[in-house]
Amino acid sequence: MESSSSDVITASEIENCSHLQVPVYSSEELFEKLQEKWNSGKKKPYPAMYSSVFGGITLDPALMVIPIDDHMVHRGHGVFDTAIIFDGWGVVDVKLDQGYLYELDVHLDRFLRSASKAKIFSPFPRSTLRSILVQLTAVSQCKKGTLRYWLSSGPGNFLLSPAGCPISAFYAIVIDDDFSQCKEGVKVITSTIPMKSPLFATMKNVNYLPNVLSVMEAEEKGASASIWVDEEGYIAEGPNVNVAFITQDKELVLPSFDKILSGCTAKRLLELAPKLVEQGLLKIVKTTNVTVEEAKNAAEMMYVGSTLPLLPIIMWDGQPIGDGRVGELTLALSDLLWVDMKAGPETQRLSVPYV
Ligand SMILES: Cc1ncc(COP(=O)(O)O)c(C=O)c1O
Repeated sequence: MESSSSDVITASEIENCSHLQVPVYSSEELFEKLQEKWNSGKKKPYPAMYSSVFGGITLDPALMVIPIDDHMVHRGHGVFDTAIIFDGWGVVDVKLDQGYLYELDVHLDRFLRSASKAKIFSPFPRSTLRSILVQLTAVSQCKKGTLRYWLSSGPGNFLLSPAGCPISAFYAIVIDDDFSQCKEGVKVITSTIPMKSPLFATMKNVNYLPNVLSVMEAEEKGASASIWVDEEGYIAEGPNVNVAFITQDKELVLPSFDKILSGCTAKRLLELAPKLVEQGLLKIVKTTNVTVEEAKNAAEMMYVGSTLPLLPIIMWDGQPIGDGRVGELTLALSDLLWVDMKAGPETQRLSVPYV
């Protein structure tokens, strides 16, 4: 739309705005200002970032930026994923100067599936993306935290179509995070924010506004987070977690993944939980459609997601789940995942030699 002449701010008007003197910085001044923000003496939360825009790694948080004309920024044309950085090998004879990325390959596979659904073509083959992530983690020296990475249609202009973006972009950042096993139960609500349609819910794209609003709604109502129910009345997922139930018959039940994000932690839980079936603690492990009524009658309920790895849910829409206390089977499943994270099978360990 054309702006009318009355919308145009003239140079003399700008000069007259003495009350609002917006500084115009030189590159040196701006760099100094950005660094001031991070040099407060506190430990820096982001030890390292990679950007394909400059083709390398920076350890300076003041330079951990992405271009404003990147289509991921102004159009949401980007996908992302994560992995957990852990040094807790859980055994005494392994050098402590090594860490690993838990389930990196599973996350990378989902990342590339998301990119393909979003029609974003990676600037690098999978092996290069993986190598960049391993090198970034090594350089960061981070022993416990998360790795987050994005594929974007890239910088170029402010249009919708990525046709004017010469090359897609890959960004990754290491975040120090001292997470620990969650053993306290939380309260949840049913979200009134409409959930994403299956196409958008099954790809991990950067459009998380419904998820943000859903968490904010929960917080406003004194809960920790929320649960989405789909239009057919089946349980879907939480805003950044999957959800699982233990029925009164000791069945571990997870909602099917066809309309929601296929959680890497939930998938790993489904692989590990049969151990509890072998021990006679659980009867069966399955994914299926779960109605709200079945879910609310569960004996135990939990969120399932990367850093938790399980978070017990004890109250839903003001009603207790089971006896309203953290369930024993929830804790047993949480232990299975936590031990797996700390000392996972050889195939899951991605050794990161710190430099
Ligand atoms: C919407 C949504 N569902 C589920 C999950 C859980 O996935 P994961 O176990 O891979 O962290 C996430 C987190 O990434 C998510 O954002």
